[in-house]
Amino acid sequence: MASAESNPKTFSLEPYQVSEDFGFLLKEPLQELPPHYKPWMDIALHIPELVESHELRSQINKMPMLSCDFLQNEKELRLAHLVLSMMTMGYVWQEGEKDTVEKLPCNLAVPFWKVSQSLGLPPILTHADGVLANWSKKDPEGPFSIENLELLISLPGGDSVRGFFLVTLLVEVAAVPAIKNIPVVINGVRCGDTNAVARALENISQAIQDMTDALKLMHVYVEPSVFYGIIRIFLSGWKDNPSMPKGLIYEGVQKEPMEYSGGSAAQSSLLHCFDELLGIKHEESSSSFLNRMRDYMPPAHKQLIQDISHQPSLKSFVQQHNCEPLKQAYHLCVSKLLALRNYHITVVSRFITVPAARTRQLRKQSQDLEDETIAKAPIALEERGTGGSGIMNFLKTVRDHTKDAFIPETS
Ligand code: HEM
Repeated sequence: MASAESNPKTFSLEPYQVSEDFGFLLKEPLQELPPHYKPWMDIALHIPELVESHELRSQINKMPMLSCDFLQNEKELRLAHLVLSMMTMGYVWQEGEKDTVEKLPCNLAVPFWKVSQSLGLPPILTHADGVLANWSKKDPEGPFSIENLELLISLPGGDSVRGFFLVTLLVEVAAVPAIKNIPVVINGVRCGDTNAVARALENISQAIQDMTDALKLMHVYVEPSVFYGIIRIFLSGWKDNPSMPKGLIYEGVQKEPMEYSGGSAAQSSLLHCFDELLGIKHEESSSSFLNRMRDYMPPAHKQLIQDISHQPSLKSFVQQHNCEPLKQAYHLCVSKLLALRNYHITVVSRFITVPAARTRQLRKQSQDLEDETIAKAPIALEERGTGGSGIMNFLKTVRDHTKDAFIPETS
């Protein structure tokens, strides 16, 4: 793939499948595959009902083996990846954590593997599928708002699962002006234009504030007990997951089981870009997880993050220039990112830590848990995020290292 490095004069988003209008979102995703793939779509459009009636696995087992040769362009491949990944999550987790499967049948595994290879994505549901490529506008001219948006493919969890994916999409939408300003910062540093850099950093700060405001909608559209008890398991992977200690065999692809992490917004390229731009360094234990998440992004997006990291240091530029507005704009940006991470921690506490504590308490009191949505939650995930990390320590460490980017007064 062409990298912006090929033209060292100006850095642009163009080579990275990132646009000034849509950021990392797939622009106007296709809603239908070619007719050849009707058997996939017939199942994928009914995953919640088929899981509820315990029929998804049997329907998938009966599906014909379809060739991938009729998928002709990036958008068709992205929709195919979304469809196959959602079916895979439903297949694996249909019966919860107690009755998982050892293998994915070849009529699902083989095409999923091939489509994944073509896109450079792993054969599991990623943020790039569930969020970036999973939307349509009811009124194409209307705004990006929950009311005007619809998911293409869904999972069990009703309105809350819709809210979860769409609010995350709105965080991506809120970030678009920030993404647009990243090349402005880089080019400004390259040519020593402190005013341009300061202005672009102010724009990025505003967009990060808007991301935090969008994240607040999670509390409006997602019910914590539904997230904790139902949605989370369908986002879970088969790496470091005690419910699937051996991983998953992709039948017809490879005899040995394979391990992949579950879907997480840690796979969103946004904060990775901001960290690289602002010079935020994470300690080994956190960065190994965050770096692994980059393998779950479309390769062009991963390349953008890497290329940002190879640019002349913004932080050194700010330190070298005795320019108060520039320094203030840089500090504002770091503060907004810190506030976003702090707010995200409160979201995680409300959607995971609190329901986990309540479930433990109910179990201890040996209460009848049958009617409690949260009691359906997988025990193996109690202390873990969907990506498989020990969550609160991890998130607080990442947050604390964001603070290290502040430039001390004396320097
Ligand atoms: C109900 C909503 C959410 C919950 C419960 C949640 C939970 C988590 C958890 C448990 C992690 C730890 C890593 C893992 O195990 O996957 C994580 C990481 C992360 N999440 Fe979320 N998340 C939510 C929404 C979002 C949204 C909307 C975004 C924004 C795009 C986001 C961005 C991130 C990022 C960037 C990380 C990596 C850590 C960092 O860079 O600070 N999350 N999240």
